[in-house]
Amino acid sequence: MPTHLILLAAGEGTRMQSDMPKVLHEIAGAPLFQHALNSAAALDGRRVIVVGHGADAVTSAARSIDPDILVAEQTEQLGTAHAVVQAAEALKDAGGDTVMLFGDTPFIRPETLAAMKEARASGADIVFLGFEAADSGQYGRMVTDGDILLRIVEFKDASDEERTIRLCNSGVVLAGTETLLRLAAAVGKNNAAGEYYLTDIVELAARDGLVTKVVTCPEEETLGINTRTDLAAAEAVFQRHARADALENGVTLQAPDTVQFAFDTALGRDAYVEPYVVFGPGVTVESGARIRAFSHLEGAHVGSGAVVGPYARLRPGAELSNDTRVGNFVEVKNAQIGDGAKVNHLSYIGDASVGERTNIGAGSITCNYDGVFKHRTEIGRDVFIGSNTMLVAPVTVGDEAMTATGGVITKDVPAGDMALARAPQVNKPGLARKLFQRLRAAKAAKKGG
Ligand code: UD1
Ligand code: CA
Repeated sequence: MPTHLILLAAGEGTRMQSDMPKVLHEIAGAPLFQHALNSAAALDGRRVIVVGHGADAVTSAARSIDPDILVAEQTEQLGTAHAVVQAAEALKDAGGDTVMLFGDTPFIRPETLAAMKEARASGADIVFLGFEAADSGQYGRMVTDGDILLRIVEFKDASDEERTIRLCNSGVVLAGTETLLRLAAAVGKNNAAGEYYLTDIVELAARDGLVTKVVTCPEEETLGINTRTDLAAAEAVFQRHARADALENGVTLQAPDTVQFAFDTALGRDAYVEPYVVFGPGVTVESGARIRAFSHLEGAHVGSGAVVGPYARLRPGAELSNDTRVGNFVEVKNAQIGDGAKVNHLSYIGDASVGERTNIGAGSITCNYDGVFKHRTEIGRDVFIGSNTMLVAPVTVGDEAMTATGGVITKDVPAGDMALARAPQVNKPGLARKLFQRLRAAKAAKKGG
């Protein structure tokens, strides 16, 4: 029996004070809703996202992350039950169970969803996820009898006594697909907010003789994002976990609090990360590589034994093979650096390949852009590129070739050749001294006058 997902992402998120739909705001480089999708990655059924505010932007972001996702539109946000009903078409004849998650609640762990599935398997018709709130605030309160959930009262509708309840509703629910959709459609809006509350399905279910149970999780998992302050707090939570996971998996972080991870950063065993390193999305670092201080990496692969930085910048498509060196103030973009090759100082290597053991001298640059098109630079193995060489792409330097310092290389260099591409030096005897005298005299004349 498949388990499907409904992800609610129609809300505006007024309190974000943003022109962007709330669920597109990012934690660790991924939009909020992507974190929720990741929570549900182990589910094997259809995935439906309910969009409303900023529907076009949310839809295209969702499709780019998950091409198979089904999109349901909720043109008016009339409440969580109403939102679930919008997914009915996409879940037609789907059978099985369905989990409902909020797109702005990024930290539900897969283990928690598994615990809910277990409760369902052991006889509950509906399973709600609750938590013991440190401060119950405006959350819906769960009225229980043992592990049986009798009803959920929204804060606005709760009596003073009900407001003292600390068991709160996270919003997450699991039920048989038919049951969930049928009950959500039967919910009314006779309440303080005038909304269709999904939480009302608990009482409707009881009337049908169905059993609803509560599974609980730590409050941190249910953290929902409503404001920029919440977003910053969630980022901090994410980073704390990412650092702890890295340390646990055999990565050394010299100053863990200064290292910033992306949602998908993958660091191998014995990778060593110095202080103040930022990982953007799409980075993998193989075991034993060292990322030195103040480096910024995104969309890059670092081979084992490589040393990157300090102050290095790896941009998307940077492929560093084993034992490479990419040193300070070097930027690498869309380029393959072969085993043991070195780019140690002040260089830009873009749209290029650099062969094994090749050395790129300080200040050398691939001139890959002509103002309209990008062109490639191919550099062979065991090449020596002299300092401050401008490689004007498209251009190829063959194996075991050299370029002399300060060259502007516009023609291919055959294997084994030396390219000299700078104006020959001419020394003018005494001219410097003469020029100094003339300039100093001019300066003195100016002061006097
Ligand atoms: C909801 C729960 C409450 C729970 C709280 C946890 C209901 C009625 N209440 O309240 O018990 O304690 O979450 O955070 O379910 N959404 C839509 N379409 C809508 C309405 C909401 O897509 O028409 C989405 C929102 O974008 C948001 C989520 O559903 O991601 C929750 O909606 P929200 O209005 O924030 O519910 P709460 O009032 O917080
Ligand atoms: Ca909310």
